[in-house]
Amino acid sequence: MVPYVKTGGLGDVIGALPKALAQLGHEVVVALPYYRQIQYGGWTIHPSNIFFDVYLGPEGSPTVGILDGRIPGTDIPVYFVGSDPHFHRDGIYEFSDNAARYILFSRAVIQLAQSLGGKFDIIHVNDWHTALVPVILKTEPQSEATRDARSVLTIHNLAYQGMFGEGAWQYTGLPRRLYAWDRLEHQGAINFLKGGIAYADMISTVSERYALEIQTSEFGAQLEGTLAYRKERLAGILNGIDTDEWNPEIDTFIPQKFSFLDLTGKQKNKEVLQDFFHLPRRNCPVIGFVGRLVHQKGIDLLAGVFSRMMEEDVQFVMLGSGEYYYHRLFQDAHRAHPAKVGVALTFSNEIAHLIEAGADMFLMPSRYEPCGLNQQYSLAYGTIPIVHDTGGLYDCVIDYSREGAERGTSNGFVFHEFSTGAFFHGIQRAIEVWWNGQEAWKLMQKNGMSADWSWKRSAEKYVKLYERALEVPYFDDRQ
Ligand code: GLC
Repeated sequence: MVPYVKTGGLGDVIGALPKALAQLGHEVVVALPYYRQIQYGGWTIHPSNIFFDVYLGPEGSPTVGILDGRIPGTDIPVYFVGSDPHFHRDGIYEFSDNAARYILFSRAVIQLAQSLGGKFDIIHVNDWHTALVPVILKTEPQSEATRDARSVLTIHNLAYQGMFGEGAWQYTGLPRRLYAWDRLEHQGAINFLKGGIAYADMISTVSERYALEIQTSEFGAQLEGTLAYRKERLAGILNGIDTDEWNPEIDTFIPQKFSFLDLTGKQKNKEVLQDFFHLPRRNCPVIGFVGRLVHQKGIDLLAGVFSRMMEEDVQFVMLGSGEYYYHRLFQDAHRAHPAKVGVALTFSNEIAHLIEAGADMFLMPSRYEPCGLNQQYSLAYGTIPIVHDTGGLYDCVIDYSREGAERGTSNGFVFHEFSTGAFFHGIQRAIEVWWNGQEAWKLMQKNGMSADWSWKRSAEKYVKLYERALEVPYFDDRQ
């Protein structure tokens, strides 16, 4: 959860959605493991007087202490679940006892709700780590605070399911009958996410397109059947972006502010970007890439089109880190084309802002993309995205070649087949329009920049989803 701790886009979602819900008038509290990284972050967080023991099978019933904070700049409570043996560590997710760690957290969340009192309408959990919360709510006796609570599970990336060998079952404290193919058992193992999908009142994922894709064998990561079975309860809601941070009119990271009414600042940022990467200030398209250099992001496709792209009159700038092989590859590309290629093989929020503000085009050839943020940042900054036709990319980017009246609404370039040929064709089309279709280019920029990418829109959809979760028939599995 931004600003406390972040490993990816999920952190941005949890940082933004509670605030947007509170602004719509809802009472929200957030629960988070008290990770070591938070303890050393210098936040105003106080121990509360809430303590309880949490059942954890072979580990006995460790005592958990709750700490109390507020989302900075708001009065929204954040409760941190403190258990040093589980969360006071050097990393966040990379541990072999993750089953125990997140069973502990999931049980603690429900017990916390009970300690706080009142009555919860909705418990909204994210990804496999908390997917047992809906299971526990529906299979174990609940006190007043959570008895009528409905659960919503959001899936941010189906590739991560929380699979554990059968030996981990004893930590769950769940009855053995739940170790079944239509509950938590999956291909001979325990699957936390599958349990959440089976028991949550509503399930969502982070774009409408991804909600459909994950019901197919291509994207379903073996859970397509489970998801298709629950499709009446499955919705897609596109993430918003933080428009306090990502707004070219007020962005404090970039040299020149700009808006769709006046793009001269963008041209100035382009020159600063060229200087930053030691590229000559030339009048040609600057193409950007920001992202992890990994398989999911289609980095192999980018490598595959690279030499052909270098035959065009363009410059290319890259920010990101990932697999060693690709670090080498793009370093070599920079050495081979020092006047055309700039690489920063690291992560830097500041450089990310500069690329979004200064580049003309932005590449996102992701294999799959549940939502994705950079295409939204690009659209908001008048940087035309060139994207694979998948997930949140599909939901955000409207291709230039759409015929007739719809043409006036396009904001980027979409390629369909996941191949270097199709990707390169998309890049070529963009280059062609950049040189020869100034008016069309401006219109695309304007379409992206004037659209509403804010969290308010998404939060309103979540409220509707919560309302549905309260209306649908309640599936009680207590025996
Ligand atoms: C995951 C997905 C990404 C999404 C983010 C936030 O990181 O891979 O597409 O934007 O979650 O929902």
